[in-house]
Amino acid sequence: RGPRAAEQDLAGRHVVISAGGTREPLDPVRYLGNRSSGKQGYALARTAVARGARVTLVAGNTELPDPAGVDVIRIGTARQLHEAVVKAAAEADAVVMAAAVADFRPAAYTTGKIKKVEGQEPEPVALVRNPDILAEVSAERARRGQVVVGFAAETDDVLANGRAKLARKGCDLLVVNEVGEHKAFGSAENEAVILAADGSETPVPYGPKEDLAETVWDLVVPRLADTER
Ligand code: CTP
Ligand code: CA
Repeated sequence: RGPRAAEQDLAGRHVVISAGGTREPLDPVRYLGNRSSGKQGYALARTAVARGARVTLVAGNTELPDPAGVDVIRIGTARQLHEAVVKAAAEADAVVMAAAVADFRPAAYTTGKIKKVEGQEPEPVALVRNPDILAEVSAERARRGQVVVGFAAETDDVLANGRAKLARKGCDLLVVNEVGEHKAFGSAENEAVILAADGSETPVPYGPKEDLAETVWDLVVPRLADTER
């Protein structure tokens, strides 16, 4: 990309990015999943490499090829994502949670395939909550001055919901998408407002996910700790 990428303003920095959706198994052939394509997280990884960062990408289910120069860790479930992100965050200058994490998982895994029983309705599927990775990483700040970024797709009162979520999670930046046709899931384009804990709001016009990624790094860079690199 253009002049911003040439600046190498992430040189000497380690960034951890999560991408794609998690899958929560129900039995050997079934899972609960979501429609995340992983494209936004991969765009964040590519742009961070171009700006000089060392990049760890923790990737859930996606059909995208590994980006060049990136350390890719593949995970399936939210609990595996949790373990991988918390471990990688210990040495990260910034953590960006672009993954679509399943909020719930089936309470029990059935080791054999669930079968129909003649003349019977199915058992309901009981769910339990998964750990909130973004809230935990934000609260712990494994490294002094670590910058933490979340994503949120919202409907209705998008900005008010986003502000409340930013405060609840305790992160520095929250990228808020309005969910709608041709936006966010699966598409190569995105439109967002980036809310910061200091109260600022940065609108990002509809365009390639690469542009949104560059704007995220533009906002992360001045917030990074001025530490030894
Ligand atoms: N997230 C996370 N761990 C979870 C759920 C979400 O780290 N168990 C992260 C996502 O990666 C995203 C941010 O939190 O960066 C916001 O996700 P979102 O689903 O919008 O937030 P929730 O707190 O799950 O709220 P909601 O009830 O609206 O789904
Ligand atoms: Ca959620």
